[in-house]
Amino acid sequence: MQPPRFNICDYLGFLLVSYCVAPDEEVRIQKRTSEGFEVDYQWTYINFTWDTPEDYKDAVLNKKYIPQNNAMGGVKFYNDRVYIALPRLRTGTPVTLAYVTPQRNAKTNLLLTPYPSWNMNVQNSCGTLQNVQSMEIDRRGIMWVLDGVRINTFTSCPPKLVLLDLNNNGKVLHSYSFHNEISMRQGGYLNDLVVEESGGGFAYITDSSALDPGLVVYSRRQGRAWKLRDKTMFAEFDAANFTVDGVSVVGFIGVDGIALSPPPKHRDEERLIYFTALNGYSIYALSNKILKNEAYCKTDQWRRFVKYVGDKSSQSGGMIMDNKGNLFYGLLGTYSIAKWNIFEPFSTVKHIYHDEKQLIWPDSFGMDSTGNLYVLTNGIIKFFDTSYPLTLNGKIKFRILKTYTGNKNYMFSGK
Ligand SMILES: *[C@@H]1O[C@H](CO)[C@@H](O)[C@H](O)[C@H]1NC(C)=O
Ligand SMILES: *[C@@H]1O[C@H](CO)[C@@H](O)[C@H](O)[C@H]1NC(C)=O
Repeated sequence: MQPPRFNICDYLGFLLVSYCVAPDEEVRIQKRTSEGFEVDYQWTYINFTWDTPEDYKDAVLNKKYIPQNNAMGGVKFYNDRVYIALPRLRTGTPVTLAYVTPQRNAKTNLLLTPYPSWNMNVQNSCGTLQNVQSMEIDRRGIMWVLDGVRINTFTSCPPKLVLLDLNNNGKVLHSYSFHNEISMRQGGYLNDLVVEESGGGFAYITDSSALDPGLVVYSRRQGRAWKLRDKTMFAEFDAANFTVDGVSVVGFIGVDGIALSPPPKHRDEERLIYFTALNGYSIYALSNKILKNEAYCKTDQWRRFVKYVGDKSSQSGGMIMDNKGNLFYGLLGTYSIAKWNIFEPFSTVKHIYHDEKQLIWPDSFGMDSTGNLYVLTNGIIKFFDTSYPLTLNGKIKFRILKTYTGNKNYMFSGK
């Protein structure tokens, strides 16, 4: 076995933090590939726009900020901002929701600004954001924030859904806490969501909890939530073990990726919610008409309507659909992105992008209003596996890649 390479940065800690993260070769932006995706932003570590130099020094000294422990989980776009969710998977993570404003020339290590504020990111206060993995932004500029990572002990607050008005400095419009029977305070894992704007607003949410995975429906008008549990929402045994970037991933993470088909031509036609387990190959779909009917979801009858869609060639995290019915998802084990149009047979699925160097755990997708599709790659498994040593160095840990599609997201009509 090789002795560990001496790295001065591992010993001198924060004093040398700026030196230790000096950019190296790899930091230069890779140019557009034949498949059309190019790196739009990248980070070797995450840092913030601190209010004062004292705040920063204090956070470093008290280990409230440990740069290499901060991870990105979800990405969404609105107006000229990139909003980023920062799940707290390690200690020293002072912020769980933030944004960056694009800069003309700087694409590497842009500082993140806490959103809506530093105060709203305070830990261990149930009125603030505790542990966010993802969010969705509706067409009116309301962000539906899923504060639901409860797989560690960084908070004892119930998982919740918080609605922020992006056109009014992130004012909290509404906050809904989930009962323990819907998503557990300890062990719950609200992972991803899609939003349907009609009928007063519905969120369809995946709970990737190890003990109680399922699909959670939230009705804003009714102020109620209910949960559907089915074997199609559990991990698949033969998808439990794979390797990404040298890290072996062994686990049974259930339903994670979720997508919603665009509004139909006729109002009363159904829309489909697509879902897949992280440790799984199969994609399934269920009608919004069924999901929205709480009473029916409490019977056993709805299970007959779960449709098997097809098998992916690898495990995946996030998915997204555009307004033309194109479903995009990552293939974690093969460093690829797949695209399938729901109006065609599943056998027409294409692998549109492959990149073993840059596509390390494509986890979250977003679209802007000018026809661009983005994917965040985050190597998140390294943050989950607490035995994996995280270090500050010049390696890129997070990338946001972009490609032009000319389409909008699933909330817009494709007609
Ligand atoms: C983090 O950002 C602050 C500015 O907000 C800066 O003063 C500090 O040096 C940065 N730290 C690192 C490790 O880059
Ligand atoms: C996972 O798969 C690898 C390669 O097939 C194998 O060497 C390893 O023992 C497996 N691990 C577990 C826990 O099943």
